[in-house]
Amino acid sequence: MSIENDLDLIMDFDKNYCLQIYNPLPLAFKYGKGCYLVDEKDEEYLDMIGGIAVNSLGHAHRKLTKALRRQVGEIIHCSNYYYIPQRSELAYKLCKRSFADKAFFCNSGAEANEAAIKLARGYFHYKGEDRYEIITAKMSFHGRTLGTISATGQPKFSEPFAPVVPGFKYVEFNNFEDLESAVTQKTAAVMLELIQGESGVHPADEEYIKNVRKLCDDSGILLIIDEVQTGVGRTGTFFCYEQYGIKPDIVTLAKGLGGGVPIGAMLCTDEVATGFKPGDHGTTFGGNPLACTAGNTVLDVLDEDRILDNVNEVSSMLFEKLTKLSGKYSAIKSVRGKGLLIGIEFDERISASNMRLELAGKHILVSSIGNSVIRIAPPLIITKSQANAFCKAIDGILKNTVPAKKNVIDIIKDKIPAKGETK
Ligand SMILES: Cc1ncc(COP(=O)(O)O)c(C=O)c1O
Repeated sequence: MSIENDLDLIMDFDKNYCLQIYNPLPLAFKYGKGCYLVDEKDEEYLDMIGGIAVNSLGHAHRKLTKALRRQVGEIIHCSNYYYIPQRSELAYKLCKRSFADKAFFCNSGAEANEAAIKLARGYFHYKGEDRYEIITAKMSFHGRTLGTISATGQPKFSEPFAPVVPGFKYVEFNNFEDLESAVTQKTAAVMLELIQGESGVHPADEEYIKNVRKLCDDSGILLIIDEVQTGVGRTGTFFCYEQYGIKPDIVTLAKGLGGGVPIGAMLCTDEVATGFKPGDHGTTFGGNPLACTAGNTVLDVLDEDRILDNVNEVSSMLFEKLTKLSGKYSAIKSVRGKGLLIGIEFDERISASNMRLELAGKHILVSSIGNSVIRIAPPLIITKSQANAFCKAIDGILKNTVPAKKNVIDIIKDKIPAKGETK
């Protein structure tokens, strides 16, 4: 039985047999190619959200597909009872390009953050210090497991599942005094995103992060940076922290690392790695040959094809065009983010979910956050002309929805009647 080409049947099966926790558009894709997805009617969609910042090399990338095909034919999984060459290689590559000395691999962002939280607590436990509290930011997002909803500073994710894991404190993002006053003798770590992606694409201020680093150093606290969404080139540098002039003690990665194959990673220094003794942590699937082949290939392709240069070039173009559009339409309240993680916030005249639908109607895929923000996180291989098509689509939708801001010439024309005209 194949239901692949019958969207009604797919939706019917989903409704009847899948847990109803998502709210999908009525679309199902057969395959993808580069920055496009193709549905069951063979219609192409420009993928400006890339599986939520996951499809870093787009769809069906030649080198990634080839490497994965080969790996599947050799060995997919063998367990961590044995050495795994692909895992050792990926750990080496990630440590060599970062502050880190050691890597741990798992299957998702939430799992990487679970590992980070446990490691921070274990670090102080083995030092004989009674520090376990983790300070996180309000409006943060760290995952959906019980530990990570407890870390997430948005009660809507944890309230129905109370009681949450104790030992988390939430402070105002980008407010250093608030964070400073939350530190106690019990504080083990501060855990932050550098861009709060899931609450509307809000970047951290550079000064704030530098102050947080100093506070952590002065107080003997660990700094955990959650780069699940911002890592692996998404913001124009391999790690977003590079742009803040700091070095964290622990970093978590996932999304873009496998180019679509599930993988998470936690990186840390040798000093912090003392928080786990053999047997303290582990996972059945984490670090398996298939997932690590994906990670190794993504990293190689980023370098070989100079993909960070592309991220920075297309990003500059997008920011320039979107900022121009915000000059043209007062309905755009702000354009923010870094690299190819960008949020566009609209005023009350534009509903973000309607904008998402309108764009889908024009065969462009984005995500909406809350009532007012649309987010784009396209494949890092996106071209300028594809990015331009997105900007044009936004322009076209706004043109038909809200009046454009008048430019100076129009205002003057309005005020001064043309010859022979009376006002
Ligand atoms: C910053 C951040 N941390 C953690 C997660 C959780 O990752 P996953 O969905 O792979 O568990 C996400 C997912 O959106 C994220 O954006």
